[in-house]
Amino acid sequence: MGRPTSSKLRVAVLAATGMVGQRYVSMLSNHPYFQVAVVTGQNSVGKKYGSATAATNLPMAEEAKRLTVKATNAESLDDVDAVFSPLPTEVAKTLEPELVRSGFKVITDASPHRMDSVVPLIVPEINPQHLELLERQRKVKKWKGVLVATPNCTAAGLALVLKPLHDALRLKRVLVSTLQAVSGAGYPGVPSLDIIDNVIPYVKDEEEKIETEPLKMLGEVGRDRISPAKFEIGAMVHRVATTDGHLESLYVETEERFELEKVTKILTRYRGEPQKLKLPTAPAEPIMVTNVEGRPQPKLDRYAGTVPGMSVVVGRIRKGLDSKSGRLTLLSHNTIRGAAGSTILTAELMYRKGLLG
Ligand SMILES: NC(=O)c1ccc[n+]([C@@H]2O[C@H](COP(=O)([O-])OP(=O)(O)OC[C@H]3O[C@@H](n4cnc5c(N)ncnc54)[C@H](OP(=O)(O)O)[C@@H]3O)[C@@H](O)[C@H]2O)c1
Repeated sequence: MGRPTSSKLRVAVLAATGMVGQRYVSMLSNHPYFQVAVVTGQNSVGKKYGSATAATNLPMAEEAKRLTVKATNAESLDDVDAVFSPLPTEVAKTLEPELVRSGFKVITDASPHRMDSVVPLIVPEINPQHLELLERQRKVKKWKGVLVATPNCTAAGLALVLKPLHDALRLKRVLVSTLQAVSGAGYPGVPSLDIIDNVIPYVKDEEEKIETEPLKMLGEVGRDRISPAKFEIGAMVHRVATTDGHLESLYVETEERFELEKVTKILTRYRGEPQKLKLPTAPAEPIMVTNVEGRPQPKLDRYAGTVPGMSVVVGRIRKGLDSKSGRLTLLSHNTIRGAAGSTILTAELMYRKGLLG
């Protein structure tokens, strides 16, 4: 426990040349706990990392740019202390359990194992206690390492806002309509001629993830399973021509009265364990509320807060059709709060709890 003074933990970033992988390498530049020791890929194997990345132009540490991209397998990983895994879904399905069986501690942004009953699905501000599942994971799976998952990029911001609302008002039903940025589809992602001057009311498998993952995260860890939270979520997704930042419009039905002032206070004051521990990637305010007309907007608000991209910005809080319902809009950065940023925050929390290193 405690912050390393002289040596940092060595970490690997798999699929490091992708949209999420580049976010990791950029966010881990000069990180106080972790140092990127290995980057892996597929088509870019053998190239210098600095010349193998496309489309983002993110700032990166010079040492990272000089790393050679390795093949994505256990042999490439040397003796790293943790593995960040934004692997493509099909690769993650088999490779992640293989790595964990051979002893690696893997935290993944990919979807295949998120709903496994012994894999903690974590947004560090809302359910750090789900890391308890790792003991059961060890017993059931007989893995030498551990596997922890970060939720879907849209579900992450949504769950963070639903947590304080559910605690205070008891949610009955949530309807969410999304406007999702193109970087959510990776690189090169959606063909430009399909998305410029257009909106696509479909993202493969996204609605199912949004409707189930928050319920697992807001659920309770019981003796042999997680009991999911008992409210319903209905999702309607759209891909739009923004670069980064998913906008989500919510209609919520609650057991308690939905009062504007109270809701604003609940959201603004919400803090979690990362804020108490002052973890390096913890934003001072995980949820920021704006009263400015017509906000939040991806272009203006996606990097709001003390750790850019880690705060979810909420606006347009207003009443629903009766006293126990309400509406609001949230904005969450998909590759930061919805992927690399949340996963790094989980790793920081695991490190401080003695679960890494
Ligand atoms: N984009 C988001 O907002 C977001 C948010 C949350 C979660 N996720 C999840 O994160 C993962 C990565 O998404 P992304 O947007 O970063 O995708 P991406 O931009 O398409 O990047 C794909 C990456 O995977 C590597 N790759 C391709 N085939 C591989 C293979 N067979 N073995 C090992 N590596 C391989 C590529 O390496 P080369 O360049 O070397 O070929 C590249 O680094 C996906 O599971 C996605 O669902 C994405």
